Amino acid sequence: MAQDTVDLLVYNIGTLMTMQGPKGPRTGAQMSDVGAVHQGAVAIFGGEIIAIGPEAAVRRQLADRMVREELDAEGRLVTPGLVEPHTHLVHGGSREHELSLKLQGASYLEILESGGGILSTVKATRNATEDALFAKAKRSLDTLLLYGATTVEAKSGYGLTLEDELKQLRVTKRLQDSHPVDVVSTFMGAHAVPMEFKGRGDEYVKMVIQEMLPDVKRQGLAEFCDVFCEHGVFTVEQSERILTAAKELGFGIKIHADEIEPMGGAELAAKLGCISAEHLLATSDEGFQAMAKRGVIGVLLPATSFNLRAKHARARTMIEMGMPVALSTDYNPGSSPTESMQLVMTLSCLNLQMTPEEVLTAMTMNAASAIGRGDTVGSLEVGKKADLVLYDATNLAYLPYHFGINHVNTVVKAGRIVVR
Ligand code: NIG
Ligand code: FE
Repeated sequence: MAQDTVDLLVYNIGTLMTMQGPKGPRTGAQMSDVGAVHQGAVAIFGGEIIAIGPEAAVRRQLADRMVREELDAEGRLVTPGLVEPHTHLVHGGSREHELSLKLQGASYLEILESGGGILSTVKATRNATEDALFAKAKRSLDTLLLYGATTVEAKSGYGLTLEDELKQLRVTKRLQDSHPVDVVSTFMGAHAVPMEFKGRGDEYVKMVIQEMLPDVKRQGLAEFCDVFCEHGVFTVEQSERILTAAKELGFGIKIHADEIEPMGGAELAAKLGCISAEHLLATSDEGFQAMAKRGVIGVLLPATSFNLRAKHARARTMIEMGMPVALSTDYNPGSSPTESMQLVMTLSCLNLQMTPEEVLTAMTMNAASAIGRGDTVGSLEVGKKADLVLYDATNLAYLPYHFGINHVNTVVKAGRIVVR
């Protein structure tokens, strides 16, 4: 330890979930190992962890270094900052009017087919100013943080013209530059076929490939590219064309796959080497096997299943097959209007039959790996970012058990107390 001071010492931690373990995404039984330390402490300097472990050992390591600030955790549970690997953060408007349509029996794809759904948010996003989009997205990002997320992925995909996609991505960039939460940007121009291209999906795909992808790359506005591969949206073949072009340009690639129908999206993710495939409600065993073999992370979205009253992802099968599983809110104005990763914890336990330990792994190391941040966040160890959440709870199971409320007491982001 070269530093002669400590910026922040968090001590008297009842249970500290370090998530220390193998590098990268965890599979199978590894997902149950949360690296728990009792009566722990974390010492931070320059935004990074410089010592972590049992409090007595950390204090010994610090010797007579000057500690600038101390935070008494008062016996609380502490986890790494939660990593939210899949949101549609930046958009205009909201879609509460779809609730009554849904209650009358209209399906998600029927609403989209009739010009509603994603396309109504496209209209609202196109009509919104950049400042209005920023203000709205910032409020949601604040809420994500209040509920424990310290790193958040954000997709475009409600512009669907070059200019409107760039507008959304510039808002994401402003959030990256100004908000304590780390924001990871994904271009999703292939989120829907816009109204003006109705019946001409191939032409739209051509525009995404020839105009949007190169421009987004040139302007450095996104790190990943995602596609909604679904019946009536983009076919497997169109998705392959877009993701192949994106990969050639140097984007990391992701895919919304088999959300409603088994399309072979998971198999495509494995074939192309996507970093992650999302939803996976209708995926076949062969699809899971292919993903496991290639190490593609399955990002499961149980709040979307809940809200669409759809079936649940077969998380147990995926874990048994050795597929790394991550979890997310899928925060968006249609299929999942919630910023609460704690609600997703509950749904993951009750509807996906995952244990609280597996859920935490899926929301930390595995989620970080799904957005290329496994080296810097997702576990608490020396050299990693000091992103910590303190809860008004003393054990992990209490979080999903006592559901629908916020248990977060304090959030430390890159060594700074940002929520208290
Ligand atoms: O992941 N499935 C496609 N995209 C989003 C929903 C977007 C919306 O309905 O506005 C999702 O569920
Ligand atoms: Fe999504």
